[in-house]
Parts: sequence; C-alpha cells; structure tokens
Amino acid sequence: SLSRENVRNYMKRICEILYKNIPYYDWVGFYMVNDENLLELTEFVGEPTEHVKIPIGKGICGQAAALKQVFLVQDVSQESNYLSCSPKVNSEIVVPIFKDGKVIGEIDIDSHYKAPFDARDKLFLETICEVVGKLWK
Ligand code: SME
Repeated sequence: SLSRENVRNYMKRICEILYKNIPYYDWVGFYMVNDENLLELTEFVGEPTEHVKIPIGKGICGQAAALKQVFLVQDVSQESNYLSCSPKVNSEIVVPIFKDGKVIGEIDIDSHYKAPFDARDKLFLETICEVVGKLWK
C-alpha cells in the first residue's frame, strides 16, 4: 500500500496536471486537516500563499470544510468571509475530501477569471477528491 509520502506525490502531480491543462485554473492546491484541526496546505502549484493554516469556518476553504459541501464562488468580491491570496483572483471552487463520512481535507482552485466554473468542474474535482480520500491515511 501507499505511504503518506507516495500519496502526497500523487497529489502534487494532480495539482501540476490540472494547472497545466486547464487554462482558467490559476492556483491549485490541497489543504488537509492536521492534528490541530486546521486546514494545512499540503501540496500546491501557483503563487505561494500566506494562508498555509486555515481554521475550520474561516474563508471559502474553512466554510467548505464546516459545511461539508462544495463551495463555488464565481465572484470573490461578493464574499465577506474570504481570505485573499492574490488580488488577481476573481473566483474560487473548494471541494471537500471525505473519508468515512468525515472531511479530511479539500482541493482548492483559484481563477483569475470571473465565473469560469461549471457543473463539469465540480463533478470532475469530486472524482479526484474521492480517489485522494481513498488513498489518504
Ligand atoms: N481564498 C481561500 C484561501 C486559500 S487561497 O485561495 C490559496 C479562502 O478564502 O479560504
């Protein structure tokens, strides 16, 4: 079976493939719940961010984890509970990763475009999260 390090390598590859192939994905990363119950940036591609540890409930990332639901924001300027990583970002989608019914992490995509995401992005990212949830330990 795969070690944590092996799984992290796959997650890094997933970030790279998504970033490279989907023109409106301008930042792609995984946050995983750590032993302090914080969302901790695990693997990412794009500009480094100051938001490396995010409390559950804070920002789009924290709200997706708290609500255990996909959080799709087509225009971040309309959100009050939002943590900005870059002024270039206009939209964001966060998809939770579940294991045994619990949120163990999430994938986070930022876009410089307004309203670029649709149901296909959601479905496709949910599939990725399902696989990562099964591999993660
Ligand atoms: N915008 C996120 C913070 C993480 S950065 O997008 C990488 C949020 O509001 O939670």
